[in-house]
Amino acid sequence: MQGSEAAVTRDRAAEGRSPIATQAARRRTFAVISHPDAGKSTLTEALALHARAIGEAGAVHGKAGRSATVSDWMAMERERGISISSTVLQFEYRDTVINLLDTPGHADFSEDTYRVLTAVDCAVMLLDAAKGLEPQTLKLFEVCRARRVPVVTFINKWDRPGIEPLALLDEIERRIGLQCTPLTWPVGPGGEFHGVIDRQAGEMVRFERSGGGSGAAIEEHLTPDEAAARFGGDWVRATEELELLGLTGADYDRDTFLGATTTPVMFGAAVANFGVRQLLDVLVDHAPAPAPRPDTEGRERALDTPFSGFVFKIQANMNRAHRDQIAFVRVCSGRFERGMVVNHAATGKPFATKYAHQVFGRERETVDEAFPGDVIGLVNAHALGIGDTLHAGPPPVSYPPLPSFAPEHFAVVRATDSSKFKRFRRGIEQLDAEGVVQVLRSNRRGDQAPVLAAVGPMQFEVATHRLDVEFGVPTAIEHLPYRLARRTDAEGEQMLRTAVGVEVLVRARDDTRLALFLDQWRLRSVTNDHPKLLVAPLLAGE
Ligand code: G4P
Repeated sequence: MQGSEAAVTRDRAAEGRSPIATQAARRRTFAVISHPDAGKSTLTEALALHARAIGEAGAVHGKAGRSATVSDWMAMERERGISISSTVLQFEYRDTVINLLDTPGHADFSEDTYRVLTAVDCAVMLLDAAKGLEPQTLKLFEVCRARRVPVVTFINKWDRPGIEPLALLDEIERRIGLQCTPLTWPVGPGGEFHGVIDRQAGEMVRFERSGGGSGAAIEEHLTPDEAAARFGGDWVRATEELELLGLTGADYDRDTFLGATTTPVMFGAAVANFGVRQLLDVLVDHAPAPAPRPDTEGRERALDTPFSGFVFKIQANMNRAHRDQIAFVRVCSGRFERGMVVNHAATGKPFATKYAHQVFGRERETVDEAFPGDVIGLVNAHALGIGDTLHAGPPPVSYPPLPSFAPEHFAVVRATDSSKFKRFRRGIEQLDAEGVVQVLRSNRRGDQAPVLAAVGPMQFEVATHRLDVEFGVPTAIEHLPYRLARRTDAEGEQMLRTAVGVEVLVRARDDTRLALFLDQWRLRSVTNDHPKLLVAPLLAGE
């Protein structure tokens, strides 16, 4: 369906909708999942540039050595040039409100990165054309898969030599079982990128860089005959590749995309803004708008019931002078108005929302109203925990807790001053409740030396820093060599009692028994030795 046609259909469907449902229908909330260096920051800038959310390209970068940084606002972030916080970029495009949630990567990859994916309706899987699927992308994709989040694939850096497009599609289908349905197809091999065939429009869009690549790409629309005359061999090759694709039934289908079994694929070069407008159009025309979210009992709360939302991230300020804490809430239903007093479902207590912000990096803008799909940052939200539900008015609602994700790093933490043990215990409990780290215990190690488990090692630094600054407990941390956790049971614990290179601990949060292994080989040899052992994968997103 063409963009304008889709918009008309949407407008028609909007007739008779309530104002809140209409606002929800014009929102798209998504995250980019990628491996470091695939071009996520560049693409984020390019997307925002189209909507003029950020005046000058370069402003989104939060990396060391780059000038303007709006996404690193904590001292620790600035020192290292990394961004700890999940930030939200909101902009309008074609009368649609786009909420782009950041998924921290690099050294700051953490459980928060996964949790962001519980708050989106769609994901853009960004691949480097020369590298294909890379480890971090795969991990994030698994969370999307477990949650059935629809995925649009954007193959980036086509301006450089890369893997053949058909081989890239084959890799995606083979390794993650997602059927590719390209919406655009590159004309010209990697490195000689002339433009893309828009399969639905049946035309070629030729790209040209605008001055210095800092503006939207210049586009020229060509009929097939014009494209054939201009690009000869490259055009013939592209159309032949598409014919091959046609044989495998790789046509876009909205139902299977929304069902997360197929992925629309697009080609581009974020650095030159090539293919970026097409991606925005696909998000607007095809990506899902916020839908009613099921509560703990599986009942869906209609979008136009009073405000409700859940906390998917809590960010504590590392700066001693500003001990505030921001809870990021994804709005699920109703209209949020700053200042409204809402109910905190976990405690039944009222929660005042005087300080509601839209947070993008260091920038905080007061938010006066928000609708389903939006993210609000509540400042001074010390009473709130990860996964908590907030709601206004009847009926009360409680959304399911957020899942715990499979940790890959483990460390024992101890208070260096044993007289501070009480405070230490309180701190550990608090960090566990906030989801900063997962806390694992065992009789063997005792209460004084719990094991902290994390998706990324940065979580340990945040935890020890906060124990020191907020609870006044300096700690010593000893990293453990385990890299793999599997769920087991009481029998499994018994069987593994004497196994070497394995340890069983209990996760405080949900009493799950986790067997920790040094690596895949250890896991394999242990399961060979104990064929009846229960070792279930802790699926990301399980
Ligand atoms: P990340 O956030 O995913 O880690 O990636 P980022 O956007 O920082 O991009 C990583 C590198 O890839 C950057 O180069 C960036 O310019 C480059 N890049 C991004 N998109 C494209 C593209 O479409 N084509 C090409 N050729 N390169 C692209 P860098 O040398 O690390 O940094 P910089 O000095 O260029 O900013």
